[in-house]
Amino acid sequence: MQKWIVANWKMNGSKNLLNEYKNAFKSIENLIVCPPFIYLEESADLIFGAQNVNQLAKGACTGEISVQMLVEREVKYCLVGHSERRQQFHETNNIVRSKAEACLGANITPIICIGETLEQYEANQTTEVLERQLAECSPSESGFWIAYEPVWAIGTGKTPTTDEISAVHFMLRKKLPNTTLLYGGSVNDDNAATIIAIPNVDGVLVGGASLDVAAVAVILKHAR
Ligand code: 13P
Repeated sequence: MQKWIVANWKMNGSKNLLNEYKNAFKSIENLIVCPPFIYLEESADLIFGAQNVNQLAKGACTGEISVQMLVEREVKYCLVGHSERRQQFHETNNIVRSKAEACLGANITPIICIGETLEQYEANQTTEVLERQLAECSPSESGFWIAYEPVWAIGTGKTPTTDEISAVHFMLRKKLPNTTLLYGGSVNDDNAATIIAIPNVDGVLVGGASLDVAAVAVILKHAR
């Protein structure tokens, strides 16, 4: 089975990078690209996801984007609760769940991000932290995806061991048998083959390496 590659550009990229993606990855069915809002297009060439959405339908929220606006752009997926949003924009588990519910209500698949901090990892609290995040962030309705992104692995070049990722994904699979489960955190063209092959990893969420079209092409090769 093909595995998913989700490219999270974060606050990076350009029109130029979007064009490079369109040229290199036209009609690829297992690549979801999440650029900043301004680069989301109604395009048959790429599958688009948003990096964030507001949980409210409309209103006085300067600078925010609603699910219906994403629907108008034909966006099919949306990251919610990325650790950068939790840390920098104070998103709580409650807010994350509201965003995920808003997405499901608009037929957008929310990709809910969970993960432990370095302190929690070192204190052996990973399972406990993830279980709490799952319980508090998951909507009652099915249809969401989960991305396991250890906070300490994001942008650091460090990843958990294969056994650690495997153990977390086994735990997630037991709780969510029919849910797509991604791993994210320092995935690149060198380690993607190993990570993608771990049981119960249905794909990868890629940050920094997704800004390099050649690296994405290599990661995609390992995902087929
Ligand atoms: P990096 O791949 O740069 O570590 O980022 C991971 C991430 O946060 C993807 O959402």
